[in-house]
Amino acid sequence: MNALAKELNEIIAKENPVVLDMLSDLGKNLFMPKGIVTQSAEAKDKAHKYNVTIGIATDENGPMFLDSVYQCFTDMTPAELFPYAPSSGKPELRKRWLEKIKHDNPSLSAGTSLPVVTNALTHGLKLIGDMFLDKGDTLVLPDKFWGNYRLTFSVIGNAEIATYNTFNDAGGFDVEALLEKCRESARINGKIVVILNFPNNPSGYAPTAPEAKAIAEGLITIANEGTKVIAVTDDAYFGLFFEDDVYPESIFGLLAGKSDNLLAIKLDGSTKEHFVWGFRVGFMTFGNTNNSDQSTMMGALERKLTGLIRGTISNCPHSSQSIMLRALNNTEFDAERAAKVAIMKGRAVSFKRVLKENDFSDQFDYYPFNSGYFMCLKLKKVDAEELRLYLLDKYGVGTISINKTDLRLAFSCLDENDTDDLFRIIYQACGELSK
Ligand SMILES: Cc1ncc(COP(=O)(O)O)c(C=O)c1O
Repeated sequence: MNALAKELNEIIAKENPVVLDMLSDLGKNLFMPKGIVTQSAEAKDKAHKYNVTIGIATDENGPMFLDSVYQCFTDMTPAELFPYAPSSGKPELRKRWLEKIKHDNPSLSAGTSLPVVTNALTHGLKLIGDMFLDKGDTLVLPDKFWGNYRLTFSVIGNAEIATYNTFNDAGGFDVEALLEKCRESARINGKIVVILNFPNNPSGYAPTAPEAKAIAEGLITIANEGTKVIAVTDDAYFGLFFEDDVYPESIFGLLAGKSDNLLAIKLDGSTKEHFVWGFRVGFMTFGNTNNSDQSTMMGALERKLTGLIRGTISNCPHSSQSIMLRALNNTEFDAERAAKVAIMKGRAVSFKRVLKENDFSDQFDYYPFNSGYFMCLKLKKVDAEELRLYLLDKYGVGTISINKTDLRLAFSCLDENDTDDLFRIIYQACGELSK
């Protein structure tokens, strides 16, 4: 049992052991991880200079937003706000989102289900766990993964997490390590669930076109050799691609319709893509397994998923679905979004520039990054948690420690002009700690 869960159980037992006995096995195992959320909360209090902890995008006025979204708040009819939305989501929004998926992913030639609305991506991930992972099944992840996966799939769910090396020595995505881990995990019970999260949190890496193709071809081969492969794309940061060689689509398009042993599932949503973190609008879309008409099977999977939503949260908020539908149909929307993405790109480029212009190599290197909200430093001399606390207390700079060596910095919430100063402070703090 996790030490934090134990601690909570002891507190409950001290007050009333009967209440502890009342908890289910899951209830006893539950805890709130001291991960990114706790570190961000600490930074909120103390990071008076720079706060590069948070998974949102900000500018000098606060959270970034698109005008075509914000204007809806003065302009909505009661019917768009107050009634229940269907458990599978607002039908017009589901259709509109499928159009968007097809538009953004020209490589997608296979049929799909209609996207089902989820309470954003975290909920979609939990639904995947409930629908596809039994106790003992393996979830294959890179060793750089969003920490919340552990809570969702391993603490609340019962899956075994198997990780592989994220990057190879050439500074690219370690496709071979991914495929080898899939083959190895498949030997246990002939079934794997693999999450492909690009752009990746925490590293900010998305594959190049050859890497994306190699990942897809490798998974298709493993499926054709007899393993049941459930390939989930976590496209939370979709479209935030900052370098020309990045594959600009979701790998979902390369996987759908390619093997009867391979079910591709796309998780995406407005949260990060459209700068509406609190709206909780996400989608889950199944891809056909072959090129015949599988609309009946897709409909059945949609209904199963809808039943799961109905039996757990009943339905997702109507108001935010209505707003996103309106915003997506606003002719200004794409241009407004492109302008924000350009700001994010400017920040990523400024991080790259500072890392190129300065020699920080006695204290840290950095992992490859080309997309998303974040990048990670690889520390050489000081412990990441020690550095995080030191930066916070001495310099008012909030960062996230991922493990002993990796420090995550969110360029999504730092003005481009502050990049030099941020790195100057981090480098100086490393020097002071390692003296
Ligand atoms: C990789 C990844 N997937 C999913 C999510 C969850 O997104 P949402 O807020 O839509 O639940 C996050 C949020 O940080 C994330 O980083």
